Amino acid sequence: MTVHMKSTTTAPLFPLRTTWDTKWDIERFKKAGLYTWFKEIQEELSDGWVKVNNQKMLMLGGYSYLGLNNHPDINQAAIDSIEKFGTGMNGSRFLAGTTTMHSRLEKKIASLHGKEDAMVLSSGYLANVSTLTCLLRRSDYIVCDRLNHASIMDGARYAQAKLVKYRHNDLEHLETTLGSLPNTARKLVVTDSIFSMSGAVADLPGIIKICKKYSAILMVDECHSMYVLGKYGGGIVEYFDLDPNDIDIIMATLSKAIPSSGGYLAASAKIIEFLRHESRGFIYSGALTTTLTSTALKALEIFEEKRESLVTRLHKNTAIFSNALHAYGIEIGNSKTSIIPILIGDGATAAVVAKKCQERGIYIHAVFPPVVPLGKSILRASITAVHMKEDLLMAAKIIYEVLEEMQHLDVQGQFIG
Ligand SMILES: Cc1ncc(COP(=O)(O)O)c(C=O)c1O
Repeated sequence: MTVHMKSTTTAPLFPLRTTWDTKWDIERFKKAGLYTWFKEIQEELSDGWVKVNNQKMLMLGGYSYLGLNNHPDINQAAIDSIEKFGTGMNGSRFLAGTTTMHSRLEKKIASLHGKEDAMVLSSGYLANVSTLTCLLRRSDYIVCDRLNHASIMDGARYAQAKLVKYRHNDLEHLETTLGSLPNTARKLVVTDSIFSMSGAVADLPGIIKICKKYSAILMVDECHSMYVLGKYGGGIVEYFDLDPNDIDIIMATLSKAIPSSGGYLAASAKIIEFLRHESRGFIYSGALTTTLTSTALKALEIFEEKRESLVTRLHKNTAIFSNALHAYGIEIGNSKTSIIPILIGDGATAAVVAKKCQERGIYIHAVFPPVVPLGKSILRASITAVHMKEDLLMAAKIIYEVLEEMQHLDVQGQFIG
């Protein structure tokens, strides 16, 4: 058979797009020596330290809020699971991918949230996208806080239902938005409970009242609040002393305070039954592995047993760090959680501050647009239960010294020039 090669001189019918512009200028960061992402961690050490480039760095950019990562009992649960189930899955949860460990984990999650049932997916991102895309139909509305996490925004964009946004934490605007929608349409209000960049808490009691008034379904993303907020880490429900039944769907992750991976939904048996049979990210994707399922379950058991002491340590450490920053006169907004945003403003300055902190052994990142609004760039620290007081004080001092040095630098000129 003769194969005829296509002539290279004729113009292609559909010209290939040859440039792949990102939303931010990566090359410029690289040229300025300010590219600080994808830093490889060689090893997780103890007390919140990690090894990078054969040097110790204090991790202030991680989410292991309760410091449970590398806990020997959780590691053992992974080993036991591998010995019993192997490392792979036999497919989707819908078919051959459900094990006794998945059912036990889902039961435990449901009981921790005071809900009838729960389901786990292979990530929190997938849990949000998959739920929002299957729950509502074309004539329905998804009503989002403007600063909700990207996975909520993506789910709302991919959904057939129409997306409407209300101003961040602005309940008056939420109410006028809901009031302007057709009475007959189904409406789902979705919000982060803790906003991941600022650490701000959503006014859930107010949102619940409005949802009841307009018969809207309420979905809350508890990725940064469950296991963290409240004296016993019971999340937003404990923090505001809410009735769990006032939140229709609770979503959270197993990749932050719980040192595993995966995301979940906790809701009424009826909603979970619907999602198990309609959620495409659940049905058309491999099951969360039994290793991750078993480690999550073990971590939840440890959390149940030690929740008060773990959360007390976390809150104490957070206070140590934020008080130290306050004492240095550093602005940190009004975070109520272990996410401490150090307010910088200009993106280039934030990038230089992050780089200088990293050079001095603090693993921390700058966050700038599009993740935060223009002019609101931050250095984001997150504190854990296992950080040591002296390390947190040392980190606060380094951040202060770097910010002091910055007063004498023309960062904009240097960066742009
Ligand atoms: C608020 C929020 N929702 C959802 C997610 C996604 O969770 P996961 O990491 O399990 O995909 C994250 C993680 O960054 C998050 O911060």
